Parts: sequence; structure tokens; C-alpha cells
Amino acid sequence: MERRDQDDQSPTPRRRSFAFRIVSLTALALVVGLVLVGCGGDNNPYSHISPRSSTTRDIQSLYKLVFWMALIVFIGVQLFIVYTALRFRQRGNEADRPAQIHGNKRLEIAWTLIPAAILLVILIPTIQTMFEFSADAQEGEYVIDVYGKQWWWEIHYPGLGPNGGPLITANEVRLPEDRKIKLQLHSNNVIHSFWAPQLFGKHDVIPGHVNEIGFTPENPGIYYGECTEFCGVAHALMRFTMVVDPQEEFDAWVASYNTERPAFDANPQTGDVSEAPRSFGICIGCHAINGTNAVAAQAGLTGNPYSVGAAPNLTLFGCRDFIAAGALANTPENLAIWLHNPAGVKEGNYMALQIKEGTLTQEQINELVPYLLSLKPAGGCPETARQEQNLHMEQGEE
Ligand code: HEC
Repeated sequence: MERRDQDDQSPTPRRRSFAFRIVSLTALALVVGLVLVGCGGDNNPYSHISPRSSTTRDIQSLYKLVFWMALIVFIGVQLFIVYTALRFRQRGNEADRPAQIHGNKRLEIAWTLIPAAILLVILIPTIQTMFEFSADAQEGEYVIDVYGKQWWWEIHYPGLGPNGGPLITANEVRLPEDRKIKLQLHSNNVIHSFWAPQLFGKHDVIPGHVNEIGFTPENPGIYYGECTEFCGVAHALMRFTMVVDPQEEFDAWVASYNTERPAFDANPQTGDVSEAPRSFGICIGCHAINGTNAVAAQAGLTGNPYSVGAAPNLTLFGCRDFIAAGALANTPENLAIWLHNPAGVKEGNYMALQIKEGTLTQEQINELVPYLLSLKPAGGCPETARQEQNLHMEQGEE
């Protein structure tokens, strides 16, 4: 009775476990396959394997070199394992233990030299590329200062702004195509990290030290980037875009920054901020708009790191795609949501210190939204880059 029970039961669990293994292996292969398919595509905005600048192409070459070397090693090791398993498997009923070996000088020299040679093949081009990057950073035709704030980016183009001063904008870095760009990274608060995967590698933005990035953007389009060093409560909403335009479009953008006045202005001759809605009065302690009298707000590294006076310059805000460093798409509805309660959209942001739910009435919001969206050049926003590349970031994404 006991023996029969065992005989009845033993084949069933074995068959089940074999079937289970096949199913789970197939499921695993499917999941891995799906994940890898997700990585594919030549134009993923956050992918570092679809380069769109001189710098990222060099990084891609190194990446390919390392990938192929690793693949050769992987296949070599797998072949050896299969060969060993087959060649030295137990045949028949050999009872003897195989000969026991301790140490083999030739093998040990070989498996020290081969990895050393592989590392050398990777090291030499890596060092070469690093030197090229530092040289590139010195040759910038356009120098741009990037200030990491909590939690947005202020962008200065020295010499391109009003009266030979800096052109100041936020969260959107406009670049001319095929020109050498040098970014200088500053922070006066915590450590951030600046990364647009299709254009350059990650660089820390450190208080007390200026890091530099050199690269040449090669295709018009919109590229996405974000802060990649945890920097506080709204770190995940500290994104930016880089808009690469042909030179003429870039020049037109610079010119419109300096000469155009807000179209909403009832008196374009004066550009006086009193021509803006009255309710904008509360904003001018923090925000500046070129071409109006709202130019008193602090910029760059001035002031206390937690100064509430440092806020995005809103000149041509109507042309930006996003509100508050990628927190919301720039639409009238979203802008109203932002003005109604900035903290509800982006917890911890410094605008919320003064603008709380209920600070602005619905009427004030209704007049501020069209005013802000009217901050555009007279001829409309430059569009080339947008026509060449669709927006990737989900509209209204949090
Ligand atoms: C206490 C200073 C302060 C005041 C007052 C203030 N803001 Fe802001 N504002 C900020 C800061 C800081 C940000 C950036 C928030 C972030 O992204 O973390 C911001 C962001 C914005 C943005 C998004 C800008 C961009 O480039 O994405 C808009 C639009 C805006 N504010 C409009 C207003 C208006 C309109 C008022 C007046 C009703 C106002 N703000 C009052 C500090 C202020």
C-alpha cells in the first residue's frame, strides 16, 4: 500500500515541475523581451543611445566598444561552460574522482593578461574622449550659464540680453544648430545634476565650483533633460527642454527677447508694468519681464539661496511648452490651476510661500492667464524645432 502510493505520486510532481519551469521560463523571456523592446527606438527623448550631438556620438562609440567587448567575453565564457559540462560530464558509472589540481601557473597568467588587455582596449579611447570633452568645453562659441535652483533652472546668455547684459530665461535652453556650446553650471543651494541624455553626459551642479560641458547640437528639435541628483522635495519636477533651432531662428528668438513688448500691453510705447493686469503687482517682487517695468527681481546667484525673490524670468513665457520645470504643459487650463494653488501642483516650490490657494481671486486668475500667454514675440513663437519633432512629454503629465 505504502509503495503503491509512492509510485502513484512520484511522476506527477516531476511532470508538473517540468511544465512549471517551461511556463515560467517562457514568461520570463517574454518580460525581458518586452523590456528590451521598450528600450528600442531611435528617438526616445530620455535615451542616451540615440545621440543628437557631437558629444553623445562620442559617448555612443565608447558604449558600443564596451558592449561588443562584453558580448565577446560573455559568449566566450558561455561556450567554455558548455564545452566543460559536456566534455567532463560523468559517463557510465565511473566511480573514480577526477584528478585534484591545485593552481596552474599558465592558466593564471592567461586569465590575468586577457582582462588586462581588454581593459586597456577600453581605457585608451575612454581617456582620449575625456580629454576631447575638456578641450571642447574650452572652445565654446556660445557660453551659457545654467543656475540650478530649487527646483527649476535659470539660464543666462551673457552679452545677448538688454544693453549688453545677460539674456535671462528659465527651464528652456534655446540653442543654435551646429555651433559649439559651452555650458557653465552654477549652484548656490544644494547639489543638482544637469543631464539631457541625447545631447551630453551627466554633470553635477555644485555650490562653489563651476563645472563645464562642451557639445555641438547637430539636429534641430526639442530635447528633454532633468535634474539627476536628489535635491529636495520637488526634485522629480525639475526638468528642462533644450530647443535646437537653425541659426536664423535662434537669432530671431534672441532679438525678440530684447525688443518685443508684451502684445497684451495696452500701451506698447511705454511697456509700463501698470499696463499689465493690476493683479500682476504681487508677482513683480519675484518675476521679471523684459520690456516692462517688472525687472527688479533678483537673478543668478544673487541673494540668499532660499530667497523668495528668485523666480523664472517670464519674458516670452507664452512660447514655453511647460510650466514650472515640466510640472504641467503650458495650456490656459493648467496655468489657471498653477496660479490657483502652486503648491498643489508642485509641493514645496517657493512661489507657494506667497501664492496660496485663495490668494488670487478667480477674476484675477482669469485676467492673468491670457496676459501670461500673450508674452510672445509680435510675429508668434519660433516654430521650426517643433515642426521637426513632435512633443514627447505627455501633455498635462505630473
Ligand atoms: C515668492 C515669489 C513669487 C511670487 C510672488 C510669484 N511667483 Fe511665480 N514663481 C516663483 C517661483 C520660485 C517659481 C518656480 C517654481 C518652480 O518651478 O519650482 C515660479 C513659477 C511661476 C510660473 C512658471 C514659470 C515657468 O517658467 O515655468 C509662472 C507662470 C508664474 N510663476 C507666475 C506667477 C504670477 C502670475 C504671479 C503673481 C500672481 C507669481 N508667479 C508670483 C516665485 C514667485
